[in-house]
Parts: sequence; structure tokens; C-alpha cells
Amino acid sequence: MSDESKVYGIILAAGLGTRMNSKKPKCLHEVCGVPMVRLALKACSQAGVDRSVVVVGHGADDMMAELGDTVDYARQMPQNGTGHAVEVCRDAFAGRTGEVIVTCGDMPLVKAETMRALVEARRETGAACVIASVDLKADAGSYGRIIRDRNGEFKAIVEADDCDPMQRQVTEINSAVYCFDVETLFRLLPEVKPKGRKGEIYLTEVPRLIRDEGGKVEVVVFSDVNEFQGVNDRMQLAEAAKFYRRRILRRHAANGVMIVDPDSTYIEGDVVIGQDTTIQPMTVIEGRTVIGQDCQIGPNTWIKDSEIHDNVRIFMSHLDRAKMERGSRCGPFANLRPDAELGEEVKVGNFVEIKKSQIGPGTSISHLTYIGDAHVGSRVNIGAGTITCNYDGYAKHVTRIGDGAFIGSNSTLVAPVTIGDRAMTAAGSVVTRGVPDDSLAIGRSRQEIKEEWVTKWKASRKGTE
Ligand code: UD1
Ligand code: CA
Repeated sequence: MSDESKVYGIILAAGLGTRMNSKKPKCLHEVCGVPMVRLALKACSQAGVDRSVVVVGHGADDMMAELGDTVDYARQMPQNGTGHAVEVCRDAFAGRTGEVIVTCGDMPLVKAETMRALVEARRETGAACVIASVDLKADAGSYGRIIRDRNGEFKAIVEADDCDPMQRQVTEINSAVYCFDVETLFRLLPEVKPKGRKGEIYLTEVPRLIRDEGGKVEVVVFSDVNEFQGVNDRMQLAEAAKFYRRRILRRHAANGVMIVDPDSTYIEGDVVIGQDTTIQPMTVIEGRTVIGQDCQIGPNTWIKDSEIHDNVRIFMSHLDRAKMERGSRCGPFANLRPDAELGEEVKVGNFVEIKKSQIGPGTSISHLTYIGDAHVGSRVNIGAGTITCNYDGYAKHVTRIGDGAFIGSNSTLVAPVTIGDRAMTAAGSVVTRGVPDDSLAIGRSRQEIKEEWVTKWKASRKGTE
């Protein structure tokens, strides 16, 4: 492949983001579980970018720790404007030709298709710079205005502070996403004069310089205003997350997932959901969760990093790094903690907590139970109120329960302990020793009957009431 066909990326992310009022650098704040700068990078790579340079400044170390060596970095300290931010990438571009997409780390909603369209426009027109613009059809506030000449050709970008009253009225704005010819960009950057109150080097001056030397600048007008929304404070972050969330939900809906109430459904970007699964209201699904087909999820459910197979029912429950195999169900009020693994057709009912335990197929754990560090066989019935005592204050111990066992209500299984296949424990037992296959363990004090005791006792109290 010739270098000419290469597309690079520059993501401007050195700014402090004062208005976030945060200890964390702005571009590391998350939209639907993903740091904004990662969303910008993802769009770049989906648009066909070979290698990106992230411009870091404030919180550079945090940023580099987050992104690792998947990208190149250019440090910008102090931050002297968007043009200066690109200038510090010069070394990273030494010997490179081709095209570069420039975008901002605080614009998480920019789509890969948009970036791709800029690259295509450049290839079709031969322009040295293609700018993405959008017509706000309303006061453009602090955005840079796209100023056109009488023929409607691009003339300049004028920053809000530098606009004359006529220019202020312009509603077409610079989105701050561009595609530049690499050579032209770095050749003209040193010619940009400091502007504005702080004497900054504006990237927006480069298109003007291209035009001044007789080069070509194209503007592609996009229609989705929301896509270019920048995030400067936490309300804007929440707004951006709302748009991004809609986009995620739309994708699932197109894949055949029924989202009953988009307004109260929160699904992060990497979640996978199968066809004909229904997501009921007030459900949050996070991280690397994968959900199969024909499941019923929610309402009032929170799921993170879990593996849910087909035909599963999860009702008002909480799952973190759990696994549920085909046809299993849980809830209401089940708490499946890390490494809880329910086999096929397992039933877990209300107020049941399971942690680091494998539950064999067809087993029922219907009420008020804690199962931790246990291996439970198939078709086991665990009675209400069963507790595995897995922790002695120093170490965790394992409980094993064989296939077809029956654990009586309110059994206390003191680990390490093994209950054999088809064994039973009597209700209320404290089980401290292993129970052989097919045996019954009774670990409770024997019941006594004192006939007529109540009658006598009441007689003895007569006259004292
Ligand atoms: C910029 C554009 C403006 C456009 C608007 C769209 C310029 C001069 N203006 O203005 O025309 O309408 O975006 O949102 O480019 N950054 C650095 N180093 C710096 C300065 C900024 O890395 O020295 C980064 C910031 O972290 C941010 C991005 O560049 O991610 C944009 O900077 P910002 O100061 O927000 O530019 P705007 O004033 O919004
Ligand atoms: Ca901005």
C-alpha cells in the first residue's frame, strides 16, 4: 500500500476541562461506560485510521495509563491553542504523507461515517482541507463560524470572540472535525499568527492560509447537530451520554431486541444481546455482558460483565460477573456475585445470594439462602434459609453437595463439608461433618413433649395476672 492512501488520526485532548470541576482529565470522563477519548479513537479506527496520535497535557499520565501503547502520544505543555496542539504532533508525523483526521477528545458522538465522508470528500475534490460543519439554525454561541464568500465558497473560520456583528449572525459552525493533507497542514502551521485574548495558535487559521495560497478547502455540511456536541461540563456529559445511549438502544432494536422503555434502559456500548430478548424498564446492563436469545430481563435489574445464555429469565435482580445457562432463572431480589454459575434450568428465587459457586442443572434454590464457595450438583433442592458457612474469619472453605441431594430448610452447612449424592439434611440442622450418599443428617437437638405442662404452669400463675 502506498503511503498516499494512509489515513492518520490526531485527537486533541490536552485541555484541562476546568468546567468539569474534576480531579480527572476531561477526556477520561465516561459516556456509557467508555472514556470519551476512547470513543473518539474508536470512531477513528472504524473510519479506517491506521494510527492515531493523542495530544495530552493535563492529566497526561492518567491518559497514557488508560490508553496504553495502542496509540502514539504528543505532549503539549502549556496548552497554547488547537493549532499548537497539532504542531506538537510534528515529530510523530515525520516522514508521513497522506491524510489526517483531526478531532477532539471531548466530542464523543462523532461517527466513523462522518470521518469517512471527510476523507472521501478530500479524495474526490483534491482539497487540502475538508471541514465538517453543521447549521445550528440558531444562535451559534461560542462556536467558530464558517464564513463563505459571495459564491458560497469557503472563506474562513472566525472564532466567536473575533466575529464582527454580521459574522456573529452566521449559524453555520465549525464542528472541529477535519481531514487535512498531512504535508500541507504541517507546512502551514508555523505561519499561523497568535490570536485571541490569550495569544493562542488556532488550528482554524490553517484553512484560511490554504485558501490564501490558492489551495482548496471543502466544507461538508452535516445535518445531525447532536453529533458534534462538545462536552465542557457535567450536564453536557450527561446530555452526550443520553444521545449515545439512544444510539446503542437503536442498534439493539435493529438487531431484534425489544427495549420496552428506552427512557429507563441503560446499556453500555460493548454489551451483546440476542434476537427476541426483551429488556424491561429500569434495567442497567454494563461492561462485557453477553445475553442470548429469547431472554426476559428486568424490570429493575442491574447486570455487569455477565454471561447469560438463551431463554433465561432475570427478574428484579443484581448480577456481577455471573453466568446463567440456558433456561435458568433468578429473582426477584437475587444477588449473583462474581463466579456464580447457574447451570441449565436452575431456579434461584428471592433473597438468594450466590458467590463463586457452580450450581448444577435443574437445581432449585428458591428462598433466603447464601451459597458461597460451593459446588452444587444437579437436581438438588436447597430449602429456605440454607447458609453455607464458608468463612472462619481467616480463610474461605468449600462446600460440596452431590446430585439429587435435599437440603432441609434452615440448614447451616459448616465448610469444609461434603453432602453426598441423594443425601438429605433435616430442617434446622447444623452440619459440621460430611454426609455419605443416600444418608440423612440430623444436626439439631431432639424435640421433647411435656404433656399438660401448659395447664399446670397456668394454674401456678393464677391470681398473679
Ligand atoms: C474549537 C474551534 C471552534 C469550533 C469548536 C467546536 C479552535 C480555535 N476553535 O473551539 O472553531 O467551533 O472547537 O467545538 O480550534 N485542546 C488542546 N490543546 C489546546 C487547546 C485545546 O489539546 O491548547 C483540545 C481541548 O482539550 C479540546 C479541543 O482541543 O478537546 C477543543 O478545544 P476547545 O478549547 O474546547 O476549543 P473551542 O473553544 O471549543
Ligand atoms: Ca470545546
